[in-house]
Amino acid sequence: MGQSARTIQKIHSIAQMRERARQILPKPVFDFADGGAEDELTLKDNEDAFQQHSLVSRPINTSAECDLSIELLGKKMSMPLVIGPTGLSGLFHADGERCAARAATREGIAFCLSHGSVCTLEELAATESAPRWMQVFVYRDRSFTEEHVARAAAAGYDALVLTVDNQLVGQRERDLRNGFTIPPRFSIPDTLAMAGKLPWLWRMRKELANIRFGNYERHEASASLQGMAAIMPTLLDPHLNWNDIKAIRKQWHGPFIIKGILHPEDAVKALDYGVDAVIVSNHGGRQLDGAVASLRALPGIVKAVDGRMPILLDGGIRRGRHLLIARALGATACLIARPQLWGLAAGGQTGVEQVLKIYRTELTRAMGLCGVNSLAEVSSELLFKDSV
Ligand SMILES: Cc1cc2nc3c(=O)[nH]c(=O)nc-3n(C[C@H](O)[C@H](O)[C@H](O)COP(=O)(O)O)c2cc1C
Repeated sequence: MGQSARTIQKIHSIAQMRERARQILPKPVFDFADGGAEDELTLKDNEDAFQQHSLVSRPINTSAECDLSIELLGKKMSMPLVIGPTGLSGLFHADGERCAARAATREGIAFCLSHGSVCTLEELAATESAPRWMQVFVYRDRSFTEEHVARAAAAGYDALVLTVDNQLVGQRERDLRNGFTIPPRFSIPDTLAMAGKLPWLWRMRKELANIRFGNYERHEASASLQGMAAIMPTLLDPHLNWNDIKAIRKQWHGPFIIKGILHPEDAVKALDYGVDAVIVSNHGGRQLDGAVASLRALPGIVKAVDGRMPILLDGGIRRGRHLLIARALGATACLIARPQLWGLAAGGQTGVEQVLKIYRTELTRAMGLCGVNSLAEVSSELLFKDSV
């Protein structure tokens, strides 16, 4: 085992993985992932919301063996966790998307590729990682959306994820303050502060020159990554509406998921439009600052949907016990985004595998201490209520 794998194995929590990523990455790159919109209120509340739920431990008659497996949209997974879509994962580690997808497959969970991946969706599919999901947007040029959907179908993706909360792009002020650009260019103070970041710079020396938005190669601006990053917000259509959902549903024959739902009525309407699952999400606090924390929005959506489709959740999942709390409140599974980027920065595929192992170990322990041996037994009974 190499030095870096040994270092990774000494990381025992997601907070420690984040700290490792902070040490490794240049500040503008670390902040690009870590930051949120405006005052970062929603970013913070996504994590804080979990602290308002206490688990009631019932350690008698428990077992250390827990069955964490679930079936989601017709596929079996080893635990209720999915790697969520993140644009430019390849900025954090060479070949980032494929490393993360391989880690997900090795750990028996689904991986969702972002529209803005560095590799193309076909290149990712060639890894044969599964289950694999593809995330798309609605563009002003609807034929471009159709093209992405058709490519995902041809490349054998297992599910399509339409993200609806990014049509107007949020103001991420850390990026503005840092002068973050795509591709990154480092200012003199950044460069002076980079003595500790040389291993990352050395590792990424070739990659930084080749970073691209792989799935956008048809656009003239894609010849230059900088040009592409600049025009991306203008490609997205703020007038996204339910007819778009209808059109995509008609085109895509597999499981169809909408990401970015916070209102119970939107979840119910999605059902009416033939959507197979929703992701309760505020884009990790990167879009509408002051938006409700995803965990706080979850119970209302669970109630309105009333078991008619799986409800997924992302935002602020940093511990295995957070998966248990979300599950107790009615989520079928959760997605993580930033933690896998921290894993990538810390150690590529090995780093992401370690991230997933941390969630698995913590969830197993939390379930054991709560006296449940399978996820089927998890209910709101696990959560402390004043009347207990
Ligand atoms: C660097 C970064 C890039 C992201 N890119 C995308 C994207 O391309 N598509 C998308 O639907 N969500 C994207 N997201 C949002 C995540 O999928 C997710 O909703 C959010 O980060 C919440 O999870 P977290 O708290 O575990 O990070 C991105 C998030 C980050 C941090």
